[in-house]
Amino acid sequence: MAGPGPLPAWLRGSCPAVLSRLRGAVLVRPGFLSAAEEDTLSRELEPELRRRRYEYDHWDAAIHGFRETEKSRWSQASRAILQRVQVAAFRPGQALLSSVHVLDLDARGYIKPHVDSVKFCGDTIAGLSLLSASVMRLVHTQEPGHWLELLLEPGSLYILRDSVRYDFSHEILRDEESFFGERRIPRSRRISVICRSLPEGPGPGEPPQPPPAC
Ligand code: OGA
Ligand code: MN
Repeated sequence: MAGPGPLPAWLRGSCPAVLSRLRGAVLVRPGFLSAAEEDTLSRELEPELRRRRYEYDHWDAAIHGFRETEKSRWSQASRAILQRVQVAAFRPGQALLSSVHVLDLDARGYIKPHVDSVKFCGDTIAGLSLLSASVMRLVHTQEPGHWLELLLEPGSLYILRDSVRYDFSHEILRDEESFFGERRIPRSRRISVICRSLPEGPGPGEPPQPPPAC
């Protein structure tokens, strides 16, 4: 991510110390998918998603206005796309969850701040965004003044790993709050296709990183 020099267009953050500290732990690749690949994925997902109803009313849930599926069988064309995600986002030989999480947020849907459970997800989360642009906000769980925002255009791939995955919550802003700085990012229906690494199993893992001093 942010090397020396100007920030990439997809990134905002609370301060330079946060940005430089997290170099390598967060990345967005706008245009990762070609228009044809976006089309391939959304055509394949649409009939499966359409069979489900959007869920709205769970007041304590992290996600509102959504339907979802865990998908393990894919067309050959989609498998080729997911293979590209694997190469781009994961270490060689790193084990992934066998099914891919597909999340369909309707125009009013949003994701509240949360950290993915360490029981079910290892150190890397990689997501493709389809249909609508959105803003992902990441806030340090100990130090809410430390935050990042990612602009996720349709066709982009985002990667969260290590400290960004464990020490920051992530959320997708609802339409009314969907701004990237001054820039309004209208939210309509959005589908994400999320690959996660498997938890590494027993062992202490990385100690939590203290928040950087700004
Ligand atoms: C989740 C999540 C992000 C996305 O399902 O845990 O954070 O891009 N999804 O949809
Ligand atoms: Mn999550």
